[in-house]
Parts: sequence; structure tokens; C-alpha cells
Amino acid sequence: MSKVKKSEAEGTPLKFFGDWKYAPAPESKEHIRLKKQYGLFINGEFVQPKSKKYFDTINPATEEKIAEIAIADEKDVDLAVNAASKAYNNVWKKMHAKERAKYIYRIARMIQERARELAVIETMNGGKPIRESRDIDVPLAANHFFYYAGWADKLNYAFPNRTPQSLGVAGQIIPWNFPLLMAAWKIAPALAAGNTVVLKPAETTSLTALKLAEIIAESGLPEGVVNIVTGFGKTGAAIVQHPNVNKVAFTGSTDVGKIIQKAIAGTSKRVTLELGGKAANIVFDDAPIDQAVEGIVNGIFFNQGHVCCAGSRLLVQEGVADIVIRKLKERMETLIVGDPMDKNTDIGAINSKEQLKKIQQYITIGINEGAELYQSSCTLPNKGFFCKPTLFLNTSQSHRVVQEEIFGPVLAVQTFRTVEEAIEKANNIPYGLSAGIWTDKGSKIFNMTTKLRAGVVWANTYNKFDPTSPFGGYKESGFGREGGLHGLLPYLQL
Ligand code: NAI
Ligand code: MG
Repeated sequence: MSKVKKSEAEGTPLKFFGDWKYAPAPESKEHIRLKKQYGLFINGEFVQPKSKKYFDTINPATEEKIAEIAIADEKDVDLAVNAASKAYNNVWKKMHAKERAKYIYRIARMIQERARELAVIETMNGGKPIRESRDIDVPLAANHFFYYAGWADKLNYAFPNRTPQSLGVAGQIIPWNFPLLMAAWKIAPALAAGNTVVLKPAETTSLTALKLAEIIAESGLPEGVVNIVTGFGKTGAAIVQHPNVNKVAFTGSTDVGKIIQKAIAGTSKRVTLELGGKAANIVFDDAPIDQAVEGIVNGIFFNQGHVCCAGSRLLVQEGVADIVIRKLKERMETLIVGDPMDKNTDIGAINSKEQLKKIQQYITIGINEGAELYQSSCTLPNKGFFCKPTLFLNTSQSHRVVQEEIFGPVLAVQTFRTVEEAIEKANNIPYGLSAGIWTDKGSKIFNMTTKLRAGVVWANTYNKFDPTSPFGGYKESGFGREGGLHGLLPYLQL
């Protein structure tokens, strides 16, 4: 059965493909193993925090408590850094690179073996659809370990005529949008380059990092080579400030990135920061429209827009603006918002109450700025933190919803006439992490890629990741690259 609704925006009918629903297809939780309480992973074992403090971690789709997580204070961080330091000097630095590679391979294989459990826990703790954690997060995390395992004993070939040397202890702080994948992005290159690690996951999504700690313990990796400490911003700050941390790697908000840069100014610590973004998906009038619409949807609604490289702005050439927006609205109507554990779900839960509040504030800001709001007509679950896929039409460059990172399923739409105008608008924001171009013309793509101030530019696709390809930003999106050969550099002295 199909029904046809009038779109208020342009008077053309929106086609909805029926009132019917898919039957529920929930992934089972039976096979996962979770403890009621998690300590800190220091020197190869789980220990009680010296702070004696724990906090509850919840499922953002149900608001139910899943487990208790330890809070590491300065003393705990000190123990972790000292364990990493000792492991670096006594074991890891001295070990033949070929042997180090074997451990990294083993971790990769064990992630594959436990893929199903990791995917379910990722979805329970983070709110992202099981389809994404199963098909994207977990396989990519394993691939990062495989990829960097391959480099571990080939650093001299990676950087010929140089003498690549490890740095020591890497302090790594990661966010909640890709919890296991970000842990892999950080840990794998650090180990391959011969460093040891103290990693802190985000407070709302510690569980897969703690499962990774279990895998690491089982892999037989020498004790202290990887330590995982949980807690809030204060725990992160203690890692950054610890005198025996030689390198800091951070992914998260631009605000905290700035605090970190200040904290390490004047020290010999090396730092890489991967911060926010406000990427433009740029659709020219010669673009394959249906693919572009799919790419736009993937770029902003994928992972609830909790993606630093999310295509959170749409720049569409005037000649095709009406058709692109109409098709986009139609596609938005078909997106399934709800239980992240259901295999049919497209948009899961917002990661936390705070983040949902932030997104809602931006929706109010957009309305007050005079932009035209469009949301899909779906109904949201009563419990948990959910947000409808949202468009802001008729926005201008100065609008806050165009300039600022919202980190939610909210797309700001602008039109343009010429290539120059598209470049001007795409670049005229504080960030420069990524961009997307949709056109039939290769020459247009090459012209754009040289002029867009963005670390990654996708052409006729969006949000494609591969461990061999470097990723990172310009301007307030941070500096340093992760992935590929470039991703080894921040962990080496040449
Ligand atoms: P955040 O930057 O506060 O958190 C990221 C990580 O840094 C967490 O592990 C946190 O515990 C830690 N942290 C917090 N304060 C710290 C400090 N002073 N020193 C060291 N570590 C510290 O990000 P938050 O508050 O969760 O999200 C706020 C906004 O940041 C989001 O709305 C989004 O716009 C942006 N964001 C960007 C991400 C990206 O991938 N670029 C990821 C997460 C958030
Ligand atoms: Mg914060």
C-alpha cells in the first residue's frame, strides 16, 4: 500500500512507500559477556581504582544501566603511565619488531573472532545501529590492527634513508562516536611504531575498550604495553599532564583540543589533535542525483551525525536544488529511527542526554535564525535519546547552524551558482576536515580537490574509510594524520 503526502515546501507530492513496517529483527544479546563492574586495565590486569570510585554506564536507547566503570584519578593514571614506561624500557623497545608484529596480528584476529560480541556491546553502549557496528566499526577496527601489524617490521622501508625510532609512552584520549574503532586508530600505529600506551575511552562508551583490554590480556601482549584507564575529563587531563607521557593523541572537541595544546605548551611532548568538522557535500547539476542523495543521507544521518567528518552541510547547485531536496525528503521519510539493536534500523540513539540537549538547542537556534525546518514524520521511541532526521533549508553562510558543529542528524542546506561560489562557501567555516563532491566531470573533481581546504575529499561517494588512507584536518579540525603511512609518523622520531 502506498500513500502520497503533499510537501509544503514545493507543492510536489512526496512518495511514501507504504504504511507497512518491517517485522522486528533484533540482534540477540544472549551471546555477550559483560561484568557488572569494570576496574582499570593496568600492567596486564584489571585492578580496583585507587580512587575507589565508579560510575554507571547506560544504554542510551533504553536508559538502562549496563555496568559500573572505574574512575581513574591522578594516582591511578600515574600507575598506568609507570607501567607503560617500564614495559617500554624493559620489554617493548628491546623486542624484535617481527615479534611485536605478531602480537598486533593476534589482536586483529581476536577482534575478528569476537566481532559479533563487540558489535552488540558497541551498539548497546553507544546507541549506533547494529548494522553499522557490525559492518563498519568492528571490521575496520580489526583492519587497522592488521594493516599496522604489517608495517611493524618494515619501518625502514616505510621511511627509507631515515632512522625511525619510537617515542616512548603514548597517552591517548578518544571520543564516543566510534569507541572501538578510535581505540584501534590510536593503539595499532602506536604499537607498530614501538611505543607503549595509556588509553582513555570516553565516559559514555567505555565498554568496548574494556573488552579490547580483555582481548589484549588474552593475546599475551607483555604486561604494561597497553593500559586502559576509564573516567571523565579529569582522567584525560591527568594523562596529558603526566611528565612520563611522551606523546599525546587526542580525538574530540575543539574546546578540549585547545586545553590540551595549552597544557603541553613548553614541554617536549608531541601531540596530534583530531577535532571537529563541518563538511560540505557539494552537488553539481551534472551529478548522478540518486547516488548523491544516498551519499548525503549516508553523510549526515549515518551514526546519528556523530561523525567528525559528517557531511553536515549540503551545497547544491541551483539547477538541481529542487529535485535534490525533494528526493532527499522522500528518502528521509523511509529512514527507520529507533531500536539500534534492530537490524533494520537506520538511525539509532543519540549517544547521551547531554548530546541530545545540544542538538535540540541547535534546532532552536536554526529556527530562531530564520532557517526553514524540515523533519521526517517518524515517531520516536518513548524511552532513550532520539532525534528525527532534520533539514534546515534557506540557510545563509552566517547562520550558526551552518558555521558550528552540531554533531547530530541535522543538515544545513545552501544553494550555489558557480564553482567559485561553491568553493568559497565550502571553505568559509572554521573547520576543514572533509568534503564531498558530486559531479559527472573528472576535471571538476580535480579542480575542487586542490581548492577545498579539507583533509579528506570524497568524490561521488562519502564516508569511505580504509586503514591505508590518511585522515586528518585543516584549521580548527586539528593537525596530524591517522591511517596509512602518515599515521605512523606521529609515533616516530625520524
Ligand atoms: P570532549 O572533547 O569533551 O570528549 C572527548 C574525550 O576527551 C573524552 O574521552 C573526554 O573524557 C576527554 N576529555 C574531556 N575533557 C578533557 C580534558 N580537559 N583533558 C583531557 N581529556 C579530556 O567531547 P564531548 O564533550 O563528549 O562532546 C562535545 C562536542 O565535541 C560534541 O558535541 C562534538 O561537537 C564534538 N566532538 C567531536 C568529536 C570528533 O570526533 N572530532 C568526537 C566527540 C565530540
Ligand atoms: Mg566535553
